[in-house]
Amino acid sequence: YDLTALNTLGLKSVARYGVVIEEAGIIEALVAESGARGLPFRIIGGGSNLVLPERLDAIVGLMRISGRARVPSSPTHTVVTAGAGENWHDFVAWTVGEGLPGLENLAGIPGTVGAAPVQNIGAYGIQLSDHFHELTAFDTETGETRSFDRVACGFSYRQSFFKAHPGRYVILSVSLALPHAWQANRAYPGLDSLPADADAKTVMDRVVALRASKLPDWEVLGNAGSFFHNPVVTVAIADAIEGAPRYPQADGTVKLSAGWLIEQCGLKGERLGPVGMYEGHALVLVNHGGAVAADVERFSALVRERVRERFGVELIQEPIAF
Ligand code: EPU
Repeated sequence: YDLTALNTLGLKSVARYGVVIEEAGIIEALVAESGARGLPFRIIGGGSNLVLPERLDAIVGLMRISGRARVPSSPTHTVVTAGAGENWHDFVAWTVGEGLPGLENLAGIPGTVGAAPVQNIGAYGIQLSDHFHELTAFDTETGETRSFDRVACGFSYRQSFFKAHPGRYVILSVSLALPHAWQANRAYPGLDSLPADADAKTVMDRVVALRASKLPDWEVLGNAGSFFHNPVVTVAIADAIEGAPRYPQADGTVKLSAGWLIEQCGLKGERLGPVGMYEGHALVLVNHGGAVAADVERFSALVRERVRERFGVELIQEPIAF
């Protein structure tokens, strides 16, 4: 089953089996089948945060469960829920169109609703966890479907309980709680020039334009967005790196910009074989055509090594290696 067109990095990848999942009921049988055949069962949503191997010896479920709804709300919030296979950006645009602001800073992120909690997507000053309500997931070990509230999801920066337990749970639907009392979040550079009374649609359009100006379109140049986390380090380590943009964290640590560190190492626009770091943004690993996972791993190891040697900082890969 060819996955090359189903991952935004465009890596050449073939799975042993691929099955489209349009309703949750089919999953139990697929898990049983994978057990009987001695193959892992893995889920792919939009394929936008993955490094897929050339041969994936697994039964792969392509998550396509659809549906969007607003569910009866509390006095302070409206809860919106969506099937895991819904396109994330389309869902955000729908909420904004329904007059339910809150998710507009997360517009334009590639991928599905079901994948959003796995890496706790974040952009332009907001993370999914800020508006998360709950999700339902199928547990492939117990066969039960259960719900997870925000605490159970164990969210932190680009991390969750699900990312820490790969393969075990199949997220089926996600609910978000959008506050009736809304204020535009215009703190991020590029949004700060918007008028104070900008509505959610205006913020969303600006976010989409900003993304388009910085990040390559994966349909033109394969990529998985940021390829590394922004490293969170001690003040002492940050102090030793002259000129680095610093983002102080609540716990006293400092978040550095991985893009800046990589650019300082002269790797912005640099290529190795068919892959490279994007010339317009040093944090985005791109596939110039025909790459496989081994090409990505080779280049990613080189980038990590250069940054480690020069700055003593360990970069953590963001996309999940299947
Ligand atoms: N920078 C450089 N050189 C570069 C790129 C960036 O020096 O080539 C420095 C600049 O100082 C710039 C700063 O890095 O001001 C921050 O860059 P940017 O605003 O593009 O954000 P980022 O830290 O690189 C993060 C997220 C993005 C998210 C943006 C906007 C991570 C790993 N990445 O990127 O998320 O869209 O902020 O909020 O946290 C993703 O996760 O895939 C992703 C795209």
